Amino acid sequence: MKFFLDTADVDEIRQWNETGLLDGVTTNPSLILKSGRDIKEVLKEICDLVDGDVSGEVAATDYDTMLSEGRALAGIASNICIKLPITMDGVRACKTLVDEGFKTNMTLCFSAPQALLVAKAGATYVSPFIGRLDDSGIDGMELIEEVRAIYDNYDFDTKILAASIRSLNHVKDCAIAGADVATLPPSTIEKLVKHPLTDAGLAAFLADWEKTGQKI
Ligand code: E4P
Repeated sequence: MKFFLDTADVDEIRQWNETGLLDGVTTNPSLILKSGRDIKEVLKEICDLVDGDVSGEVAATDYDTMLSEGRALAGIASNICIKLPITMDGVRACKTLVDEGFKTNMTLCFSAPQALLVAKAGATYVSPFIGRLDDSGIDGMELIEEVRAIYDNYDFDTKILAASIRSLNHVKDCAIAGADVATLPPSTIEKLVKHPLTDAGLAAFLADWEKTGQKI
């Protein structure tokens, strides 16, 4: 499973990129607002830093403007993935932009039929929102499992990009369910390495090593 970082904070992206473990970045209008940056400038900076796909989201809701905004975003760098909402105009724009050779990420996916439709439109990624489904009282992970089964049944190439991830259990369950990508906020990705027994075990080993008086 690939790890994307779900942020428009360039400092956070630089830090994680240096680990060599980052496969891409996702942004959305709320994350651009939080960054306080101009969308094109910040996306250019992120694309220059990161080798993998970087999602930039259109703001238009009508087909024609989605196309022009999508093409403008794609003009920023070759690793831009045009993020579009799953509406009828968005799905139609996805089909057109994919036919033109662009990558697309269909966002705000909350149902398996939506995921089926965007796969038929040739989307590069579909982004099911796990945490927001959980918030509404529906098990978000079931959606990942359903979409995996549907895509496997028909050999769709669309990648499942699990989004709205809130916990380590979400990450684990996404990997078990076969999501292709999990996009994680910095606060979640940094928790992946942590376990109290690792910290306690390391402290004990270091204390014993000190007592040996040796050096390597
Ligand atoms: C990613 O593409 C989504 O925009 C993001 O994961 C949404 O997460 P949230 O529900 O925590 O805002």
